[in-house]
Order: sequence, then C-alpha cells, then structure tokens
Amino acid sequence: MSLFFPHPILAIETSCDETAAAVLHGTTIKSNIIASQIDLHNKYGGVIPELAAREHVQAILPVIESALAQAETDDIHAIAVTNRPGLIGALSVGFSAAKALAFSKKIPLIAVHHIEGHIVSPWANRPESDPVTYPNITLVVSGGHTELVLCRGLGDYTILAETLDDAAGEAFDKGARLLGLGYPGGKAIQEAAVSGNPKRYSLPRALPKNLEKFSFSGLKTAMRRLVELEGPKISIPDAAASLQQAIVDSLYKKVIQTAEEHNTSTICLVGGVSANKLLRETLKQECNKRDFSFFVPEFEFCTDNAAMIGLAGSFRLQKGETSDFQTDCYPQAIIPGTI
Ligand code: KG4
Ligand code: ZN
Repeated sequence: MSLFFPHPILAIETSCDETAAAVLHGTTIKSNIIASQIDLHNKYGGVIPELAAREHVQAILPVIESALAQAETDDIHAIAVTNRPGLIGALSVGFSAAKALAFSKKIPLIAVHHIEGHIVSPWANRPESDPVTYPNITLVVSGGHTELVLCRGLGDYTILAETLDDAAGEAFDKGARLLGLGYPGGKAIQEAAVSGNPKRYSLPRALPKNLEKFSFSGLKTAMRRLVELEGPKISIPDAAASLQQAIVDSLYKKVIQTAEEHNTSTICLVGGVSANKLLRETLKQECNKRDFSFFVPEFEFCTDNAAMIGLAGSFRLQKGETSDFQTDCYPQAIIPGTI
C-alpha cells in the first residue's frame, strides 16, 4: 500500500510570515504558491505578529485560488493545515480557512505540526519507488528550531539534540542585522559571503563535544564584539563568510558524529537553513566520504511552504488519522494536555 494518500490534497501554511497553499497528489507537488511578507517585515528587522496576521487575512483566499488554478483541479479530497507551533494570530487565519473549506466541501481535515512538515519535505516530488530511507538522522535547521532527530519512519521520531539558546536561522538573522544586511538574514549572509574569506575573523564553535546540545548565543555575542571592534573598517564579505563557516561547522560535525553513534547511514537536512549552499555541500561531501545517503529538499521546499505540510498530512491521512472540528491551533509545539 502507498505511504501517502492517493488522492489530491489542498495544503495550507500560515504559521509565520508566508501565506502558502499547495496541491499535491501522493508525493507529486502539483502547485506550491507562497506569498511572502518579507518586504513588509524587513522595515522592522523582524516579523511583527499583528501585521503578519492581517497580511494572511488579505492573502489567504487568492493564494488558495492560485494553488487550485495552477494545479488545474477542484477535485480536492482532503485539507492539510499547520496548527502548531507558530504565531497564534497567523496560524488562526490558515486554520480557520482550512476548517471552513473542509466543512463546506465535506472532506477530511488533518492538522499538521510545522516541524513534521519540514521533516518530510525531502519527499517532495520523490517517487515512492525511490524513497527517503529510514532510519535516518534528520537535522532540522530553521528560524526557530535546531534539532537532530532520529527518524525511524514517517511519524516515528526521537529528538536527540536541540539548541540551548538561539536557532541556527536566528544566528544567521542576528548576524545579518549586525552587519546591516537586512531580514531575513540567511540568504543575505550567503550572498555577501561569496567573495569573502571565511578564515579572516575567528569566531567560536560552541560545545564541540556535546552531541545533545547546540548553542549559538556565544557566536552572536562574538559577532557583536567583532562589529564594535572593527567599526567601519570591517569587511562585510569576510565577516559574513566567517559567520557562515562557524554556523556550518557547529552543525555538520554533530550530524555526522550522531549518525555514526547510531549506526545510521542516512542523513536528511531540512528547514529554512537547508537552503544554505555551503551547508548542503559540506554535508553532501561528508556523506559521500562515508558512503552515507543524503537527502535534502529542492530549494523551493526548504523555507516555509505548504507542500511539505501536505506531505505530512498525506501520510497521516493514509494511516487513517483525521482532525475533528474541535481541533485548535497552538503557539507551542506540544498540544496542552498531551505528552
Ligand atoms: O523554515 P523557515 O522558512 O521558517 C521557520 O520555520 O523558522 O526558516 C527561516 C530561516 C531564517 O532564519 C532564514 O534566515 C534562514 O531560514 N534561511 C537561510 C537561507 N535561506 C533561509 N539561512 C542560511 N542560508 C540560506 N540560504
Ligand atoms: Zn519552518
């Protein structure tokens, strides 16, 4: 039997600053529409929750209509939607739209954990005959999360490591802000780093021997000191390249060591920071050296999107799960009252 729901699904994601809708059939992504609010939040150097929610209200119906139009279908058999974790006002917009559509079309609704969406994102457009392999060690690196997850199969996860303080994406974003490169910072740092020397400035790699914890707050402080110390003579490309290298080093070594400790020869890289070319290349090379399999989503499925939410909803529907209309959305990862 197929691992994924064998009929078209509409998926909706509004947990932060992207209004996104997608249509998928099995693992084939028929459309993946993303209305980004970056220009709006860029002025403030970060996401303003109330503005994000208002923008989602404006964008949600046109984005859903575009996803259906591009997929050239109205024949939707279920709706998958992010219900946690995220900005509560933002989540509520997508979740209410999903409930209303599922109710009016009398089709199942499935509520999805945003991070589970990232975890299954390497399945996007991958045929089931050439599957993501399990067990694997998945590195989740986004704006809010830095985790190493042992995935034994779809829906079967153990968190092996997490961050003590900032997420890897935040380290990029805060570094970019210090260097005056705007928000979100990951892509800006990557672009500035192209012509930079990653060895020019020495920055810390925290907790190199602790496989259960990441930490990026020391790096942020070191960046602030560097900017203060160097003043206007700082080389932006060299500082960006040094920061990027420090983040990549702090991540990839722990991933490889953790896979070796768990006798696992498959590594997955997911979340917004998985769009980082240096991180992708470094992990790919390290995997090649060891004959490990390496899975990473195509670029369009790295940062927040609805296709990945559809994939997570899809395998859950296929297992027989649905969410009833009492289901709510939550800012935190764990639903209150559950374990
Ligand atoms: O997964 P995501 O889109 O949203 C959350 O769930 O948080 O991740 C956003 C994060 C931001 O911190 C952004 O700076 C980072 O992903 N990011 C990158 C790149 N593209 C996005 N970081 C490094 N290099 C990139 N190319
Ligand atoms: Zn995300």
